[in-house]
This record gives sequence, C-alpha cells and structure tokens, in this order.
Amino acid sequence: MSTFHQTPRLQASADSNALSSNPTNFDIDEISTLGADLIHHNTMRLACQADRLINLGKESDIAPTITQLAQMELPIFVLSGGSNVILPKVLNATVLHPTYKGINILSEDEDGINIEVMGGENWHELVVYTVNQGWYGLENLALIPGLVGASPVQNIGAYGVQLEDCMTHLKAFHIPTQSWHQFQKAECQFEYRDSKFKQEAGQWLITRVGFRLHKDASKVNANYGDVSALALTLAKAEQRSVATPIDVMKAIIEIRQSKLPDPQHLPNCGSFFKNPIISNEQFATLQTQYPNIVGYAVGDKHTKVAAGWLIDNAGLKGKGIAPILTHAKQALVLVNHSDVDSVSPASQQDILATQRLIQQTIHDQFGIDLEREPVWVDDQASYNS
Ligand code: EPU
Repeated sequence: MSTFHQTPRLQASADSNALSSNPTNFDIDEISTLGADLIHHNTMRLACQADRLINLGKESDIAPTITQLAQMELPIFVLSGGSNVILPKVLNATVLHPTYKGINILSEDEDGINIEVMGGENWHELVVYTVNQGWYGLENLALIPGLVGASPVQNIGAYGVQLEDCMTHLKAFHIPTQSWHQFQKAECQFEYRDSKFKQEAGQWLITRVGFRLHKDASKVNANYGDVSALALTLAKAEQRSVATPIDVMKAIIEIRQSKLPDPQHLPNCGSFFKNPIISNEQFATLQTQYPNIVGYAVGDKHTKVAAGWLIDNAGLKGKGIAPILTHAKQALVLVNHSDVDSVSPASQQDILATQRLIQQTIHDQFGIDLEREPVWVDDQASYNS
C-alpha cells in the first residue's frame, strides 16, 4: 500500500486517490470566478481577461467539472503555473487551474525510491524537498518555474538533464473524451522541449507525475559548463572533497540566479526560442565566418546552436521593441518591462513585435529560423505552434 508523505510545504491531498466523485452534488458555479483577470497567473505578466477561472483543489473535481463544462459547451483552457504560455488579451474560455497537492511514496529500496507527485505542486519546491530527503536526480532542474503537472509537457530540461531522465509514468485526464489515462515514459513521445502533450496541446490535464530517484550521493551530473567547478567550491566550503547532489543543486541555483531574471521582479517565461538544430555542413560554413559560434553535436549529422549566442551576436542583447526586450544577461529570454499596474500593461501583440524582429534579424544574418518555445494561445483558447 502506498503512503502519503506530508511536509510543511508539500501537503498530501486527502482524496488524491479518489478518481471520481458523485457529479450530482457538484455545482460548478460554486467553484468558479467569473470574468477572471489572469495577469498574475502568467509569469510574463501579460494582460488577459478570461470568461471564468476554476481552481481544481481535488483530483476528484476534474471529471464532474469537465463534464459540466462540456454540457454547457464552454471552451476549456488548462493553466498550470503560467510560466510557459503567451496568453491573449481576451480568452474566451473557462480556465482550469490545478491546485491539488501531495507526494505519494510508491515503493522504496536501498538504491532508490519511486514517488508520485500531484500536478499542483510547485516544481522547485519538489526539487529542494527531494534532494533534502536524500532522493537524487532532480537537482539539475532546480529553480525552473512552474508546477509539476506542466513539467512533462515541454520535457523541462537544464544543465544536461531533462525531465524524462527521472520520470517513470504519469496520469492524465483526456478532455475531449473525458477519460483517465496512465502513460509510461516510453509512451510520452519525449523529445527536446517536446512531448505528446505539447503536440496535443489543450487536450490533456496531467494530474500525477511519477519519478524514480536514486540515493547515491556520489552520483552527480555536473559536466555542463561552469556547474562542476562551482559545485566543487561549494562542497569544499562544507569540508567535502567531492561534490554531492546538494552542491550541484546549490551551484545551479546560483548560476541561474546570476543569469536568468526572476519572474517576480522581471516578468519572463524562460527561454523564448528553442536552440535550433541545423546540419553539420551549415554549422561548418557558419564557423568559417563566426569562429566563436556555440554549438553542440546532436547525433552524427546535426548541431544544436545556442540561440542566445546568435541573438547576442546579432547585437540584440538587451534590445527589442519596448516594452518587450531580450534580457541583458541572457539574450534567449524575453522580459516584459511594462508596469503591470498601468492602464495598458503589455499584451501578446507586444511579444509578437519583438519575436518577429529577432526572427527576421537571425534569418537575415545567419540563415537560421528560430522557433518559439513557449505555447501561444489565441482568444478561442486554441494553440498555435
Ligand atoms: N550565450 C551567449 N549570449 C547570450 C546567451 C547565451 O553568448 O546572451 C551563449 C553562452 O555563453 C553559452 C551558450 O550560448 O555558450 C548557451 O547558453 P546557456 O548555457 O545559458 O544555455 P542556453 O542554451 O541559452 C538552455 C536552456 C535553458 C537552460 C540552459 C542551461 C533551451 C531553449 N534553453 O539555454 O532553459 O536553463 O540551457 O541548461 O534549451 C528554459 O527553457 O526556460 C531555460 C532557461
């Protein structure tokens, strides 16, 4: 039998094993906010007015809520942490926001532990909690904004690790057919910043994510850039001769804080473009003109180019069309400099202006087409890639 692990920050949801409830006692109006302002529900702080907002506190609320919305023929939009979406000014939809929480220990042995985490948990708090428990594997993914339920959608990744490296399975509700599904990792179609759930955007509500974490404190993944040197310095400060996953986590927190803007202070949605993958021939040609260009081999025939380097070297670091500019310390991140309390805070159209300027400049200078990474939502809650 599985047990729920309760912590001050990560609380077990009392009924998170209950998969359905009696819809007859269920009144959707009781849990709805009509005419919801979403400016504080997206980390880019874009103005967005939605028809209705429903906080889903229990997994068992999902089926009756979606059944009723379908009967009323109301469009549905799932909004998790709002850290990877570009929302429209007006969203003609009912927004479902998961707030269900809990960590479920499935099994444990001397080498590791299998856990299942509710989708409404905060991602970074999960990373800190597991590492402090001595359950390792998520440390390289520290400080990524957002909630656990959204983490498989774009297969979040940083510093040489992607979600798929530790994820085992997930449970999700399919909105169009109103049915529950369980997926093993191999069924999630994970790619770089991509998955089945990103391909089928808007159709899935991910409620639980399973992880296999290990307990070997000597096993770290610190080969990326400056992580290993900083992790070792931090270890030595604690009288340890080698870096542990805790040191790696602390190093990554420090590196991210030095380069990436904190959305609480400077609204953003992380990397705005994917690192483009081009042929080795095209990369070799670019290298003759730009000897410092940064790229990493992908298989035998392709190279993944650092989009931040391209934007920086095209002279666009800290630039754009106000109020949306690239970040002064990491050109791959677009930041919103508008005042969220003003009468006209930044909107999707402002993002589009800067996005197009960057794409056109990079196309003209390097012959590379940059692809947007966050999800673009239109006023009918449809997704555009
Ligand atoms: N670079 C520049 N100028 C810049 C930015 C980057 O020259 O303004 C160069 C760097 O010097 C480095 C290279 O580009 O040589 C790569 O930069 P960095 O290590 O910062 O990583 P990235 O490729 O820009 C990716 C992820 C990040 C993740 C980091 C670290 C994508 C789209 N982005 O960024 O993910 O944190 O690696 O692993 O793959 C996110 O998805 O929101 C995100 C922040």
